[in-house]
Amino acid sequence: MSTLLLAYPGNEQLTNAIHHDTQWPIIDATITHFPDGESHIRVTSQVAELQGAEVVVVCTLDQPNTHLIPLSLLVHTLRDLGAQRVQLVAPYLSYMRQDERFHPGEGVTSRYVAAMLSQWVDELWTMAPHLHRHDDLGALYHIPTHCLDVSPAIAAWVEQLDRPLLIGPDDESEQWVRAVAQHHQTPYIIFDKVRRGDRDVELTHRGHLPEGQFTPVIIDDIISTGQTMAKAVQWTQTLGLGKPHCVGIHAVFADDATTLLLEHGAQSVITCNTIAHTTNQVDVHPIFAQALKSI
Ligand code: R5P
Repeated sequence: MSTLLLAYPGNEQLTNAIHHDTQWPIIDATITHFPDGESHIRVTSQVAELQGAEVVVVCTLDQPNTHLIPLSLLVHTLRDLGAQRVQLVAPYLSYMRQDERFHPGEGVTSRYVAAMLSQWVDELWTMAPHLHRHDDLGALYHIPTHCLDVSPAIAAWVEQLDRPLLIGPDDESEQWVRAVAQHHQTPYIIFDKVRRGDRDVELTHRGHLPEGQFTPVIIDDIISTGQTMAKAVQWTQTLGLGKPHCVGIHAVFADDATTLLLEHGAQSVITCNTIAHTTNQVDVHPIFAQALKSI
């Protein structure tokens, strides 16, 4: 079966990185919108190439309510034109945080979106999905899934720092903080977090700090409103640790979180390029390219 690559608009950089390592041909499609907002999908490459092919669609899933319906229509179009299998590479997998009915009457949207995507595509590749109450994506998805490890890329960035002290703002972040700490045999601390609302979070610190001078580095999976990171930055000041570097894996940035963090005393704000953003400094594209090359 031949394998073809297709970039959902905005995902050309990662698609090119995968093409570079795999040499899979890239096919093109346009997604435009009618005046009423309905999507119009058109595969513009040689349509005959799709017969019996496997297509790897690259589409990170930030702003999911904007992208999910066009993505679904694109995948349906590919199958309609003869594609036999469709794989999805979604470096950021959204709709992962509402993984429980926290209040009576709420929908568990992570399950519903996983069920939808499992119907549309045959296989899924992602990075650092927000798995807290589930051990793996298999608890939600009914298709083969691959969660790629971001920690070597963050560890490579941390390498340049003198005596890093890694900090996780909450329990969920410990998985990434611990993994990066293991790369460098460096200490880490984890704060306790209580979230009362979208922009209302409180962190506390208990326990001991390692002795000596360190460069504080806060690591979290998502920076959205920036409130979690901002509270962690405040704590580093309270604890006398100095100005921290803030490292987010997924630059969701729902508000102007960069300004918020710098105003709170962050030394820098850095993210991985799972979502394109001006703060991207950690390149995870080679991790995707290498992983896909191995199939
Ligand atoms: C939540 O558990 C995540 O790990 C992040 O801490 C959270 O999504 C960050 O959101 P915000 O930037 O809005 O505080």
